[in-house]
Amino acid sequence: MSRIDIIDIVGSFVKLKKRGANYLGLCPFHNEKSPSFTVSPTKEIYKCFGCGKSGNSIGFLMELEKYSYVEALKWLANKYNVEIEETEVSPEVKLTQQAADSLYIINNFAQKFFADALFNSDEGQDVAMSYLKERGFREDIIKKFQIGYNPSSRDTFTTAALTSKYNLEFLQKSGLVTVRDERPMDNYRGRIIFPIHNQSGKVLGFGARVIKTNDRAPKYINTPENEIYVKSKILYGSYFARMAIDKADECLLVEGYTDVVSLHQAGVENVVASGGTSLTPDQLRLVKKYTSNLTIIYDGDGAGVKAALRGMDLALEEGLNVKLVLIPDKEDPDSYVNKIGAEAFKEFVAQNKKDFILFQLEVSLKDAGSDSAKKSQIVNQVAETISKITKTEEFTRRQDYIKQVSEILKIEEIGMNNLVNKFIRDKVTKDEQRSFRNEPAKVIPEGEEEMPAEDVAADLFNRDEMNERAMIRSLLEFGYRKWNDEQSVADFLFMQITENELDKMMENKELLNVYEIYRTWYNEGLNPTAKSFLYHEDKNINTLVINIMDTNTEISPKWKEHFEGKIPTRDDLFREEVISTLNYLKLRKIKKLIEENQRELEHAVSGEQQMLYLQTHQHLKQMEIELTRQIGTVIIR
Ligand code: CTP
Ligand code: MN
Repeated sequence: MSRIDIIDIVGSFVKLKKRGANYLGLCPFHNEKSPSFTVSPTKEIYKCFGCGKSGNSIGFLMELEKYSYVEALKWLANKYNVEIEETEVSPEVKLTQQAADSLYIINNFAQKFFADALFNSDEGQDVAMSYLKERGFREDIIKKFQIGYNPSSRDTFTTAALTSKYNLEFLQKSGLVTVRDERPMDNYRGRIIFPIHNQSGKVLGFGARVIKTNDRAPKYINTPENEIYVKSKILYGSYFARMAIDKADECLLVEGYTDVVSLHQAGVENVVASGGTSLTPDQLRLVKKYTSNLTIIYDGDGAGVKAALRGMDLALEEGLNVKLVLIPDKEDPDSYVNKIGAEAFKEFVAQNKKDFILFQLEVSLKDAGSDSAKKSQIVNQVAETISKITKTEEFTRRQDYIKQVSEILKIEEIGMNNLVNKFIRDKVTKDEQRSFRNEPAKVIPEGEEEMPAEDVAADLFNRDEMNERAMIRSLLEFGYRKWNDEQSVADFLFMQITENELDKMMENKELLNVYEIYRTWYNEGLNPTAKSFLYHEDKNINTLVINIMDTNTEISPKWKEHFEGKIPTRDDLFREEVISTLNYLKLRKIKKLIEENQRELEHAVSGEQQMLYLQTHQHLKQMEIELTRQIGTVIIR
């Protein structure tokens, strides 16, 4: 960790310029014209003020290169010539990993077996290859997609797999083999096999299509969910499409395996398939890794693509730009490209791309006819949809929509604008109620502005979490300062907190966790600081610490002018900050004790007992007042 230079790491992907203490560049995670991506060499973190992404060197590699934590470490180790010693993983993790490895190995074997059966057996040639050729698939494309054939007899594949000593349990788990009447047999008998690859080309599972349409048999049998085949995270064809998507800055989405293969054959390679279900957030994120432009190619009949449309609010929130293309005449992309040819198909897509929001609006307007109640419902719906476009860099896009939609609806733009804003405000209010406000801990100079103590107390009550965070921040930032001649700030806090029972003071378990880790490190004589947490393996912990430390606490330049250098800095005020945070947490504990005592009082059986509880109550109240008064003198926000 000590060798990592974040400027060096980030700088190998992003062109950085020095700006004061930090470095600035164009954000690699979203499209921008002016740089808002900042890297701080001292804090060892990056942060984009445009899209909000932030993290450390490891997080950067994970985000940009889509590495896992371990992969990122390996990349770094390689860069800095450090050898990694691998340690044992927990038994459960090991079992899952082993299962996943076994499934990959079996799938690899099966894929080769099926391809061999397609190309090198009589049945494969006569039944399967002739079918594929008849549909117009070329051999080079069949090879590229590693398409194969599972012979029609009972257990050709199963026998081959068992002879090669593959484990029956995993064969069943992979969906390739099923046991009927206590005898294992092939699950995909007589079917064309489409292997489904992950991003790096490993086979996750298969789609198996019947050749002769037969009412009783399902058209496709797919791999059941297992350790590696998780349908909601898979887009068929993503392995073959990733470069082309990147290049075209657009991803085409179709429904079926054959659509993907045919379009590739026609030279349209930036295409993936959803497999006929609603698009999931994971699939959208997969698209978002490569591009923000998603074009859904929709055939009039495709129930699947209609389903895919359902998750569209999510796509908008993810910042995806969604367009639609409707394929006419009951064709699907596969049959249509075969009918009109590659060039005409590309032309058709380019000409007929419809904006998703406008398309949806047109369809529902047609539905509504002259029903005015329905129409006003539509106005509301479309305003709500537009309000999902909330990212600042998409402001222009949102305004464009408001304009176009108003024209289509023949209403005043200003009215539409207000309606959209109302939806945005409602959402913000809801979000605020849900989470606490992540605001800077500012210290207002004495005499500047003082709230009455009751107000402070009432106001503080919403700030539990902020104060718990402030407490951790004090520890991380000032822990090593001298509190007095004998104690450091950390010593002082540990002592105070032990007396006051930590679990009564802190509710957020993650913050508690950071506190405990800090204390362990501190007691071991290590020198923990915020930086020590940046490389903590648990991403939740390191993000939490980054967010805590990232709160902007600089004093505004205007103030600086006004007070001519007399403004106390955070640094000068660390004592006040520590005390006020601590007092606040104590106050909360006292409030809890008061509540507890009150409950006891209600159940008191004798006058004597009542007396005792009342005395306790008074005592606690006194402490509460004293603390509230103290807090009132230094207003923490
Ligand atoms: N699908 C499925 N199970 C089915 C039917 C469909 O999993 N019983 C999924 C498959 O991923 C399929 C997609 O939905 O690729 C689209 O279905 P469909 O259009 O019926 O199939 P195509 O792939 O277009 O196959 P073909 O062109 O051979 O009809
Ligand atoms: Mn089809």
